[in-house]
Amino acid sequence: MKYLIDSANAADIKKVLEYFPCEGVTTNPTIISREKGDLKNILKSIRNVIGDDMQMHAQVMADDCYGMVEDAKALADFIGGNVYIKLPANPEGLKACRELKKEGIGVTMTAIFSPQQALLAARAGADFVAPYVNKYDDVGDGVRLVGEIAQIYAQFGLETKILSASFRNVEQVTSVALAGSDFITLPPAFYEKLIWHPMTDLAVKGFEKDWYTVYEKSPKGLI
Ligand code: G3P
Repeated sequence: MKYLIDSANAADIKKVLEYFPCEGVTTNPTIISREKGDLKNILKSIRNVIGDDMQMHAQVMADDCYGMVEDAKALADFIGGNVYIKLPANPEGLKACRELKKEGIGVTMTAIFSPQQALLAARAGADFVAPYVNKYDDVGDGVRLVGEIAQIYAQFGLETKILSASFRNVEQVTSVALAGSDFITLPPAFYEKLIWHPMTDLAVKGFEKDWYTVYEKSPKGLI
């Protein structure tokens, strides 16, 4: 499973990338609206931080196929580089997905809450599907949803990647990795939770105690 950053804040994204091995950034209208700025400036500042090779996922706002395709082309053109346009998993989104794939534009079908939405998205040519794990937990089992999508994709040899989104805890993250999620997107603050463990801190403290009982700290480093 590979990691993406669910954020539109360039400073936060830059900080995560300093430490964590991520493949790019996902945004959605809610995440963009939190920045309260001009869309173009926000998208440009993210691209400047991540470069052209990393994935950037950005969502349309139109609610019909024609408008979605127009939004998608404008976004893809403006963002440039390795870009995926997010479309909602509904009939207009499916139609727009098929149009965009004819034009060679990358597509992520988002707000996926059922295996059938994921199967239809894959048949429409989507590059990614984004099941909302924690949100689905309110009415069902988000991890099971990811597992069922993975099983269906494997059964029919479908190449669409599962990009799991919406998480509240580390256990859900590990569970979707085991269930076969190809990618996951998490807000910046979540990354600290993934790497931190009290036993690691304890082990490091033990090494320090043992080492400095025998050796002195040198400004030149270890060797
Ligand atoms: O990328 C999807 C995500 O932003 C929605 O998740 O955290 O609102 O449940 P959340």
